[in-house]
Amino acid sequence: MKGIKFDFTNMFYPNIEKGIKYDEINQYKDKIANIINEIFKEKPGFIKLLEDTKYIDKILDLQEWIQSFDSFVVLGIGGSALGNIALQTTLNPLNYNYANNRKTPKIFIVDNVDPDFVASVLDQIDPHTTLFNVISKSGTTAEAMSNYLIARGIVDSYGLDPKKHIIFTTDPEKGILREIAKNEGIETLDIPPEVGGRFSVLTPVGLLSALAGGIDIIDLLNGAKAMLEKVSNNNIFENPSALNALLHFLYYNKGYNISVMMPYSNKLFLLADWYRQLWAESLGKKYNIHGEEVNVGQTPVKALGATDQHSQVQLYNEGPDDKIVTFLKLEKFERDIKIPKLHENYSALAYLGGKTLSELLNTELFGTEYALTEHGKPNMKVIFPEINAFNVGQFFFAYEFQTAVMGKLLEIDAYDQPGVELGKKVTYALMGREGYEEFANEVKNKNETKEKFII
Ligand code: PA5
Repeated sequence: MKGIKFDFTNMFYPNIEKGIKYDEINQYKDKIANIINEIFKEKPGFIKLLEDTKYIDKILDLQEWIQSFDSFVVLGIGGSALGNIALQTTLNPLNYNYANNRKTPKIFIVDNVDPDFVASVLDQIDPHTTLFNVISKSGTTAEAMSNYLIARGIVDSYGLDPKKHIIFTTDPEKGILREIAKNEGIETLDIPPEVGGRFSVLTPVGLLSALAGGIDIIDLLNGAKAMLEKVSNNNIFENPSALNALLHFLYYNKGYNISVMMPYSNKLFLLADWYRQLWAESLGKKYNIHGEEVNVGQTPVKALGATDQHSQVQLYNEGPDDKIVTFLKLEKFERDIKIPKLHENYSALAYLGGKTLSELLNTELFGTEYALTEHGKPNMKVIFPEINAFNVGQFFFAYEFQTAVMGKLLEIDAYDQPGVELGKKVTYALMGREGYEEFANEVKNKNETKEKFII
């Protein structure tokens, strides 16, 4: 199959002294086959959406309109932003917003309520030629809603028609955004109700801004579909997502609590940010599906090669046996730069002259991989022959499926996130949301009566 490949060589014994043995995998063969069958039978939303063309058809109908703006601004957070960011940084040039030959709108993704950040985006846009895409499945998230109110305030104060400058992406029936849309006739795209935020990159959540930025969303979905076919194979040795989940699970049981994703490519870097949310929020759970307290989860960490060789790799090589490193390797860079042959009388410089930067970067990747293996640290690679929408679609789906398998192995619900609720509730209460008055008092009292230690 064309597309990305998974290299598990350095996850196994004897390449890694404490590595996983093939026998251990064999023992799980039937269990994994059952898990795969179960997932396909249950068909979670992220699988089901690939069979439904109605979402994509509606987005494509909007192509001309959304690409007619100078700026396209996404207002969302978490699963309603991280996929969008990953798509833009991976599939568009790194200087996309500043490129002279850009034929599609500038893309801004506002996924925080840091006033310096929000103001800096607002400084760069002209409201007359901007489309705001407010993305929130629940339609209640404080960050997305406050940024919507700011955008709406600007649209109104410029006397612009909100129907021409705002588009919502939200639940097909529930929530405030849906209500406003109905009342005011604002264009709205549906988020399939059965797809959770962090699994929603291939729904209108991620696809609309991707299309606005000129990304080939059909190819992206084709990549995901090709991977769906690949991971439907219930032979663990032929199923990269299932094998990767099982390896992470077996290492986790041996105390490897950290999963590092380290792309050796700036363009691939923010795929690791998307992965970080998917792995953390899906698998970090207090209770298992039997209601027992388990407090499980593997901490995902992102690092960038070669930059973080000079920051993290000392720890990865010589620190505790608690990490699995996944490299993202890019074989063919879009552009390359030849290092000039200068100062050839200095041996510390002469060897670099005439080589390319991509050659240097991938040699450094090999060096890190080699060193980790020599230090007995498990590591693996996802290999991108090149960056294109098809390969990125494959990557998204492979990791979504891997997360579903890992959830089954850990016997937890990979699709909920009860642990983020309390913090949200405190924000609502302290910001004065109606119905939270009593809770606000409780929080304030608890905080005031706490023994303080401030130096
Ligand atoms: O994965 C998730 O469910 C979360 O990260 C949500 O995407 C995030 O909290 C934003 O939620 P909403 O889209 O409802 O605003």
